[in-house]
Formats: sequence, C-alpha cells, structure tokens
Amino acid sequence: MEIPFRLNGEDVTATPGDPTDTLLDWLRARGLTGTKEGCNEGDCGACSVVVTGADGMPKALNACILFLPQVAGKAVRTVEGIAAPDGTLHPVQQAMIDRHGSQCGFCTPGFITTMAAAHARGERDHADQIAGNLCRCTGYAPILRAARDVEAAPVPDHMRESPLPVAGNSPGEHEGAGPLAPTSADALADWYLANPDATLVAGATDVGLWVTKQFRDLGQVAFLNRCEDLKGIEVTEDGIRIGAMTDMETLRRAIAPHHPSFAELLRRYGSVQVRNAATIGGNIANGSPIGDSPPPLIALGATLHLRRGAERRAMPLEDFFLDYGKQDRQPGEFVEAVTIPRQPDALYCHKVSKRFDQDISALCMGANLPVVEGRLAAPRIAFGGMAGTPKRAAHAEAALDGQKVTEAAFEKAAAALAEDFTPLSDMRASAAYRLEAARGALMGAFRALAGDGPVLLELRA
Ligand SMILES: Cc1cc2nc3c(=O)[nH]c(=O)nc-3n(C[C@H](O)[C@H](O)[C@H](O)COP(=O)(O)OP(=O)(O)OC[C@H]3O[C@@H](n4cnc5c(N)ncnc54)[C@H](O)[C@@H]3O)c2cc1C
Ligand code: FES
Ligand code: FES
Repeated sequence: MEIPFRLNGEDVTATPGDPTDTLLDWLRARGLTGTKEGCNEGDCGACSVVVTGADGMPKALNACILFLPQVAGKAVRTVEGIAAPDGTLHPVQQAMIDRHGSQCGFCTPGFITTMAAAHARGERDHADQIAGNLCRCTGYAPILRAARDVEAAPVPDHMRESPLPVAGNSPGEHEGAGPLAPTSADALADWYLANPDATLVAGATDVGLWVTKQFRDLGQVAFLNRCEDLKGIEVTEDGIRIGAMTDMETLRRAIAPHHPSFAELLRRYGSVQVRNAATIGGNIANGSPIGDSPPPLIALGATLHLRRGAERRAMPLEDFFLDYGKQDRQPGEFVEAVTIPRQPDALYCHKVSKRFDQDISALCMGANLPVVEGRLAAPRIAFGGMAGTPKRAAHAEAALDGQKVTEAAFEKAAAALAEDFTPLSDMRASAAYRLEAARGALMGAFRALAGDGPVLLELRA
C-alpha cells in the first residue's frame, strides 16, 4: 500500500503495514518528533499538524487519529516545516517567543501548527481556534496575545500549498480486499454491497479511537474521504442537502445564515481539529445518543438518505435511531446525505457539558418553535442524552402546540418532559440533573423566543 502526499514541501510516499497506521506514529518513526503524543485520542492537540486538501485551505488536524490513507494526495506540514525554508521563523513562532507563550514546551508544537493554520485562514476567533490545544503551564493568556499580535502579518508563501495531482493520489488497492478508498459514491456502493462487514472510515474521530485506545483490528476498511460527491452542502429553494462526508466545520459555517443557533451549537462540537475531521455522516451513523447534530436536525424535520448498492431510501432522521446501539441500517447500506427542509428560522439549541469546549454532551436540545399568528405551530423538540437514542419530546411538544408564547405554557411543557424521558445516570450527569437541565433548556428557549435572553450562553464576550 502506497500513500503519496506532500510533507513539509517535499513529495513523499508512505508504505504503512496497515491502513489504520496513524500519521502521528509514521511521523515520529521518521524522526519528526516535534509532533507530540499527549492523549492519543483527539483531546489535547499536541499532535496537531496543518493539512491542505483540494480546497487549498490549511486546516489543523489531530495526527493521532488520522490514518495515513486519509492524507493521500494532501499537503501536510508539521512543526518542523512551519518556519520558512531559509529558516525565518513563522510570525506565530516569533510572537510565541516574544509573548512567552511557551514554558515546558510540550504543547508548543501543537499550538504553533494550529495557530499557523488559523493565521493562514485569517481566523480571528482565537479562543475557539486554540480550544483543542491543552497547555498545563502558560494559562493561555500569552498564547492568545501571540495569536492577536500576528493578525495582520502576511501569510508566508510556503504556507500556501496545493495538494498533489489526483493522478498520483490513489492509495491503490487494498491487497486482496477490494478498493481501499473508492473515489465516488457509486464505487463505494458497489464495493460495500460486496463487503458489508467492512468498516467505513469517514473522519475517524470515533474509529480512530477504536484503534488507538481499544487496539481493535478493524479488518477490512474503506476510506470515504476520496468520495468527493459525498461532500458539500447544496442549498435550494426546498431544502439544504448535506453530503455525508461534509465535515462539521464546513457545516457550521454553511448553516450559520440559515439556523444560527445550530451553528453556535457546532462551535462547541469538539475542537477545530475535531470539527475539521468529523463528518455529519459519521455523527449520525454511529447512532450515539449524545451526538450533537441529531437533536437539531430532528427538530428541523431532517430526512436521512441511505444507499445500498443502486437502491436508495429516505426516512425521517428520528426513525433511523431504533434503540441504543441499533439503527435502521441494512448490511452494505451507508448514509449518503441528510436534507433539511427550508423554513424560517425558529431553532433554539442548547448543549450541556462539563467543559465549554471539547466535551461530549451530557445533554443536547434542538427546539424548533415556529410561531404563527401568535401561537406555537407544530413545535418539534428533540433531545440527546435523555434516552438511549436521540428522541423527540412528544408530550412537551403537545403541551406547546397551539399555545401562546407564555411562561406558563413553557412551564407546563417543561413539566411534561418527565413523561417523555427517563434518563440514565452516568459519569456525565445524574438522571435528576439531566431532567432538570432539560427543563432549564426549554425555559431558556422560551426566554429567547420572548426576546428575553440568549439560548446558548456566550461565555466569551
Ligand atoms: C476529541 C473528540 C471530541 C468530540 N466531541 C464531540 C462533540 O462535541 N459532539 C459530538 O457529537 N461528537 C463528538 N465527538 C465524537 C465524534 O466526533 C463524532 O461521533 C463524529 O461525528 C464521528 O464522525 P466521523 O466522520 O469522525 O466518523 P468515523 O469515526 O469515521 O465513523 C464513525 C462510525 O460511523 C460509520 N460511518 C461513518 N460514515 C458513514 C456513512 N457515510 N455511512 C455509514 N456509516 C458511516 C463508521 O463506520 C463508524 O461506525 C468527539 C470525538 C473526539 C475524538
Ligand atoms: S495526542 Fe492528544 S490530540 Fe493527538
Ligand atoms: S508550555 Fe508546558 S504544557 Fe504548555
């Protein structure tokens, strides 16, 4: 298996023994030990590298949960390649020195690469940009100052990279096991029908941990990242179609003009590095009861599009989630897209997690509360973290339907949540806390609807 890509400006070919060998392990074995292993699960950012794909946009990604076939044809820059070829420091490197942004230095390569990617993209939301990088020493203030210092500095030429031509991009055939990385949804459909036991790898923000933490042998795998026709968002008069391989950061930006509360919720999805990798297809297909995208999508009345060979079927997204760990998906069937009907925005989202950033939800709500002639009309409220699947709050919806937007109506609906859900206690929250927090989230939606306050607390004003 040969994986050609560009590394710090030079064309290289990796020959991993296994398709799930990570970029981090390969880099470090090659002597590029500036890229650190902190957690090996996408949480700390010490392994961050800059990856530029076909769109020419440098993105920070966690190399510890990035399998080598995922970087085929892309340009990768590690901390060793951030300074200019003549040795001139990158502006963020100089600013980190000037601002004393490094102490023990373990986290510093990850910060430098993440900040260099953000700088190349012209990002200004510095706290969000570095939310996926942990530092035990500096307290972050010097690092944020460094990021601000370089806002106006020109992007060094070597940071503007183009990926390798597609002709040299093929990871080839997975020996004896069919194509490793199909290049279209059609090719994937045929291959998966013939290999229904294979593991599909989308962004690998779940699958990566199966390998790095659980040491699982995934057997046959197929990488979906080369299926360009599964990526992207199409907005028509009728709906917003989101391809299964659309990453969460792309979705966050694209959904903001239509449903800003959804975009704000996605700002709290993992970190920039995780959002740059994780896909909407993976977030739905994994069937997690605490995935962040299903509640708002269900509240918006989204339709899921599945494909098995040449056959396609569509269903309301909520019907996909049958039970804990059980989804309505046949062998050889995969998620092709999800569509949201066009509608005036009336969506309110709320996420409760122990940390603001980079934390899985204890509870997540999407509440779609259209008001027609002063009354709530067919409200749709969905929660994650309250049951074994993402689930609608039928009793709360019924309590609100046709009502005026009053505190009393919402209090009645909030009380009805106890009929809708019997949540579990686990390490993220107790059952009682979850129920109380769900009530609070719904009352927060009321206050937002009544023009009385934000649904998502803006902690970084
Ligand atoms: C540090 C960290 C933070 C995280 N924070 C959050 C968070 O805040 N909110 C949240 O919701 N999640 C979070 N996650 C979980 C993870 O990001 C999501 O579950 C993610 O959406 C999975 O998508 P992926 O593309 O990475 O899927 P993968 O890991 O590639 O795949 C996940 C599963 O879906 C299957 N699959 C993928 N695509 C398809 C498809 N098109 N059709 C059929 N099956 C498919 C795979 O075979 C696998 O079973 C976090 C993960 C990490 C590591
Ligand atoms: S080592 Fe911690 S995110 Fe990769
Ligand atoms: S400088 Fe020590 S962990 Fe960041």
